[in-house]
Amino acid sequence: MIIEPRMRGFICLTAHPAGCEQNVKNQIAYVQSKGAIDGPKRVLVIGASTGFGLASRITSAFGSNAATIGVFFEKAPAEGKTASPGWYNSAAFEKEATKAGLYAKSINGDAFSNEVKQQAIDLIKADMGQIDLVIYSLASPVRMHPTTGVLHRSTLKPIGGTFTNKTVDFHTGNVTQVSIEPANQEDIDNTVVVMGGEDWAMWMNALKEANVLADGATTVAYSYIGPEVTEAVYRKGTIGRAKDHLEATAFEISKDLASLNGKAYVSVNKALVTQASSAIPVIPLYISLLYKIMKAEGIHEGCIEQIQRLYQQRLYTGKAVPTDDQGRIRIDDWEMREDVQDKVAALWKESTTESLPEIGDLAGYKQDFLNLFGFGFEGVDYLAEVDEMVQIPSIS
Ligand code: NAD
Ligand code: NA
Repeated sequence: MIIEPRMRGFICLTAHPAGCEQNVKNQIAYVQSKGAIDGPKRVLVIGASTGFGLASRITSAFGSNAATIGVFFEKAPAEGKTASPGWYNSAAFEKEATKAGLYAKSINGDAFSNEVKQQAIDLIKADMGQIDLVIYSLASPVRMHPTTGVLHRSTLKPIGGTFTNKTVDFHTGNVTQVSIEPANQEDIDNTVVVMGGEDWAMWMNALKEANVLADGATTVAYSYIGPEVTEAVYRKGTIGRAKDHLEATAFEISKDLASLNGKAYVSVNKALVTQASSAIPVIPLYISLLYKIMKAEGIHEGCIEQIQRLYQQRLYTGKAVPTDDQGRIRIDDWEMREDVQDKVAALWKESTTESLPEIGDLAGYKQDFLNLFGFGFEGVDYLAEVDEMVQIPSIS
């Protein structure tokens, strides 16, 4: 079929297999252009199909020659209906990894469940023995708790009072005021259950109990801090409470891994256009201003540049891993630079529907958003018939 983008709200209902493949190939080429990393050889990536998790899988494999197992929750294609982008990304990743002689297998299912954890353990035992690195990169609006069976939903709300600020509909470019009602305690608790550190700890515990973690095993989960303008809805809102919990969990996991000389880290990453971040009010306007400034300064990065730098300049330097005073790795250092933040804050005040195309990088936002679904890549013929039924080799 010929596949076009079909937008609905914050998502695109279609994905382009050839474009997703191009996306993966571009990321591989970037990692290879940066040279070899003396990194992990056996890697489990939880949330491996899109965004930072996909970049982590690609950096592990093509930067450090690692065998990888990827866990994700994606929609398979059906006749006349495309798969979700993470499905096509993973199919392309496995194809390229296999070509390069690298082991790559995937598990498509609910990472929060006991069953998927057991599947991953069985696969590690059968094919790898033990693993050196576990990347935890889930972004999900819901979590079925594996012991209680309760379905928890996360929210993106401020805490303590209504938050009013500007936001942009990046499809139309309309800048409007948005007001978000504050969370109640239940919202906070549910968001912590979904996006906090409990499931990360459960994974690490299950892997350790099964004796599939190698000596010196490392695990990394991703967090975000961001600027003052997004604080009320992000870092000091419900999702921020979950990130506080995730960051605190790193210390618990580190204690537990001490007997293996292992360690858990949280890496604070840069704000980027992903399926997860597009749904958060206020953030798209901030990102479009940030992109403009960072591109002008020559310091703009996407997921792959961020994760490649995380591996090469933070995790695998042969020296101690540098962290901030709260033990976190900071790869958001360029975003949070004072001169960058001062410029964004000044533009924020000026941003209107009329000024944004000029002062912000709305075009870059839209481009990145299309790219998430495999659209807008150079070298892809979008008028050509493509097979939507692309399968993931290790799953089919
Ligand atoms: P994403 O939406 O691109 O990726 C989410 C991944 O989780 C996908 O692989 C998806 O298949 C998987 N997933 C979701 N629910 C699942 C489930 N139940 N079982 C198995 N897999 C499941 O998101 P992202 O933006 O790459 O976010 C990854 C992490 O990075 C999150 O912790 C996020 O908070 C953090 N982060 C994001 C940003 C940003 O600006 N996007 C910035 C800093 C940190
Ligand atoms: Na991810």
